[in-house]
Amino acid sequence: MTDNTQSEQGMTVVVTGASGRTGSRVAQAAEAAGLTVRAASRAQGFDWQDRSTWAATLGGADAAYLAYPTDVGSPDAARDIGLLAREAVELGVRRLVLLSSRGEDRARPTEDGVRESGADWTVVRAAWFAQNFSEGPMVEGLRQSGELVFPGGEVREPFIDVRDIADVVVAVLTAGERYVGQNVEISGARLLTFGEAVAEIAGATGRELTYRAVSPREYGAQLVGFGVPAQEVGFLVELFGELLDGRNSRLSDGVQEILGREPRDFADFAREAAAAGTWKA
Ligand SMILES: NC(=O)c1ccc[n+]([C@@H]2O[C@H](COP(=O)([O-])OP(=O)(O)OC[C@H]3O[C@@H](n4cnc5c(N)ncnc54)[C@H](OP(=O)(O)O)[C@@H]3O)[C@@H](O)[C@H]2O)c1
Repeated sequence: MTDNTQSEQGMTVVVTGASGRTGSRVAQAAEAAGLTVRAASRAQGFDWQDRSTWAATLGGADAAYLAYPTDVGSPDAARDIGLLAREAVELGVRRLVLLSSRGEDRARPTEDGVRESGADWTVVRAAWFAQNFSEGPMVEGLRQSGELVFPGGEVREPFIDVRDIADVVVAVLTAGERYVGQNVEISGARLLTFGEAVAEIAGATGRELTYRAVSPREYGAQLVGFGVPAQEVGFLVELFGELLDGRNSRLSDGVQEILGREPRDFADFAREAAAAGTWKA
């Protein structure tokens, strides 16, 4: 056992979004690696919108995993991540790992907030999550009407399993200086269109499931109909228009480089989530 490993075994890591898709897996993986996890979401009294809750969450910790709710590229994210990162450093939380997004230019000011905080930072830029199909807004359409309506066109995306994101985050946190000051890009192993992804899910469930491509604008109108606030809809329509223009139709080899293994395959994700009854009507 190296000195690094010994000190990291006693590391306390604040996991924001600990009840969410990535945070819950980061917490599990960190505990399995022997780290002490301090879960942080509104359920534990930590609120990104209320700065008075930050110090109690951060004080005495060594590291923090930062996953900003909704989107890392929102103007609120840039402001709050920048402020929290500086406060973390003042409180002695030296190691920060930010979850960011591949190809999202509007996330760069948020990333800069972590880089300029004085922390030992790593930015993990992830592809679209496989779990967007099983935990989040996409699941209801598939479950209830058997149809995913989404502005993904025929663009190919290498969907990543959030368990791989968690494994990467914990590997980065426990690797000493190795990934400090770096952006790491991670994706799944295969490029799939949204239609192909839905076909794999259909195969795994035995249900007839379909994908209908719509324009970002049509998708936005549908979200307004579901009661999503207009400002958020405007942001999401612009964001999806950018992220789904083909810029991300490429693989990133961060999982292989950092974990020394292939990313989990989308077919395995689909089979396991189907077995758990995720898309049952
Ligand atoms: N989806 C993708 O494909 C994708 C790809 C790359 C990057 N990302 C990035 O992933 C991030 C989201 O991470 P995620 O998907 O793991 O999260 P998530 O599943 O959307 O969960 C959100 C988490 O944040 C907490 N939360 C919500 N509002 C909060 C508040 N005001 N204060 C404190 N905590 C709050 C929630 O818990 P409580 O309700 O208990 O507070 C929950 O734990 C975004 O920044 C997004 O840009 C997403």
